[in-house]
Amino acid sequence: MTSSPRRLRLAVLPGDGVGPEVTEAALQVLASALAESGIGLEVTRHPIGGAALDQGLDPLPAPTFKAAREADAVFLGAVGGPRWDSGPARPEAGLLQLRRQLGAFANVRPVRVLEGLEEFSALRPEVVRGADVLFVRELTGGAYFGRPQGRAGAAPGRRAVDTTEYSEAEIVRVLEVAFRLARERSRRVVSVDKANVLATSRLWREVASEVGRRHPECELEHCLVDSFALRLLLRPTDFDVVVTENLFGDILTDEAAALPGTLGLLPSASGGGEGPWLFEPVHGSAPDIAGRGIANPLGAILAISMLLRLSLDRPDLGAAVEDAVAGTVGDRCLTPDLGGRATTSEVAEQVVGRLAARR
Ligand code: NAD
Ligand code: IPM
Ligand code: MN
Repeated sequence: MTSSPRRLRLAVLPGDGVGPEVTEAALQVLASALAESGIGLEVTRHPIGGAALDQGLDPLPAPTFKAAREADAVFLGAVGGPRWDSGPARPEAGLLQLRRQLGAFANVRPVRVLEGLEEFSALRPEVVRGADVLFVRELTGGAYFGRPQGRAGAAPGRRAVDTTEYSEAEIVRVLEVAFRLARERSRRVVSVDKANVLATSRLWREVASEVGRRHPECELEHCLVDSFALRLLLRPTDFDVVVTENLFGDILTDEAAALPGTLGLLPSASGGGEGPWLFEPVHGSAPDIAGRGIANPLGAILAISMLLRLSLDRPDLGAAVEDAVAGTVGDRCLTPDLGGRATTSEVAEQVVGRLAARR
């Protein structure tokens, strides 16, 4: 966290599929938000994922990581796609390494149903009206990084192993982030685990309760992940801050996209360690729509509003972007995932136009 620097050095990693499309839209909005703010913008672009593999590089090339580590903030589009699924190196490995090496252990994913957009939800409007859930997903531990991991044997005797491991320290630090965020909201935290089966979850629950006792101003509830997955769809307005481990958080935040009705609307910010914060839309490279100019850029644009708040300490500019997004959506300037016919750049232009009109 920096306090209003005069210049933002942003490392941009557009990646694959719709990644570059939504990234360009988000950068236009960032430039517009910073115009007349007194904060200069210095953007450098670097390969990651499949785009790096295509150049004969690693999924996270060393110069890309160096640029990210030295920047004030990092913006990533998306990585991956069927083209690289059978290769020896996976694009996704680049993103996982980036998160881990930046020390980005806390992944903050807000899921809001914007007023007037309830009709696009997969659920009934009266169920989702006012839903506003803040997921805090542990991002650098659990099954994603546990060792041993790998395969052995040959058909018909093939075997594979993943390992879920959590230390007390890993649980404490992400719970602390959740409670800190809850203090500025409705002070209700739900910790999601599978403590009826998994040893890591039993440790998670025990440690979460201990951290909770240090935050008597907040209410802590524990919920099993299977039951939470259902409750989220039945009564999403019951929840405020939800904290959970890496794999559950991955799955539950895609599920939560059913609330607004599209993954294309969800932003995310990851940080907590020494490195700069990493901002991304929650969605992937969307190979089914890539190259057609119709990806919804609003998740990426809302990630810019998180950047303005978290890396620049400018909640006023973050709120201006959110208002411009709400206005754009309210005007029914919508991409096909929300039932509209607007292109990625038309949506971005509307958001930029609304920001410019405020100045
Ligand atoms: P996906 O998120 O790319 O797409 C899921 C569905 O949502 C698709 O129907 C897609 O068209 C739609 N969608 C996604 N983003 C959208 C947008 N901005 N506007 C409109 N519709 C949108 O998930 P997937 O298809 O399972 O994965 C594709 C690839 O992306 C895989 O290689 C996966 O590993 C990767 N992935 C990367 C990230 C990331 O880089 N952060 C996240 C998730 C998946
Ligand atoms: C996400 C993605 C990634 C994850 C993949 C691409 C490694 O699904 O950001 O949610 O599983 O964390
Ligand atoms: Mn995911």
